[in-house]
Amino acid sequence: MLSAHLQAQLSQKARQAMKNAYAPYSRIQVGAALLTETGNLYAGCNVENASYGLTICAERAAVAAAVAGEGPEMRIDALAVVSDPPAPFAPCGACRQVLLEFGADAVIIFQGRDGLTEALAGELLPQGFRWPEGRN
Ligand code: THU
Repeated sequence: MLSAHLQAQLSQKARQAMKNAYAPYSRIQVGAALLTETGNLYAGCNVENASYGLTICAERAAVAAAVAGEGPEMRIDALAVVSDPPAPFAPCGACRQVLLEFGADAVIIFQGRDGLTEALAGELLPQGFRWPEGRN
């Protein structure tokens, strides 16, 4: 369980980033903020494209910002996702795979169908793809 303080801090930062979303097609603004194991906060928003499939989700934008800030050893401690309109908004499958890469134990908070939901990245994507041991 994340402390109420951390939850509020992450949601506030996610909400700030959400306001910068580029979402002229879906008109759904999404923001994500994450805390790294080193203690830094990073945020991201969705960036859509006229070629719809090129859209970048808020969660992956936040992960990219965190790697750019800390480098390849970056690990996620916790991440919050918010949306406007506020609706049940769980991270998509592609984002779950990317979150897993940087911490199976990362705590992910989002509006689920039954209210605010907290789950580990590894629980959101059981049996996600991992690079086979010894292959690199
Ligand atoms: N979106 C996210 O930012 N995160 C997700 O996990 C799912 C979807 C964005 C992509 C698109 O800009 C909008 O939400 C509607 O799909």
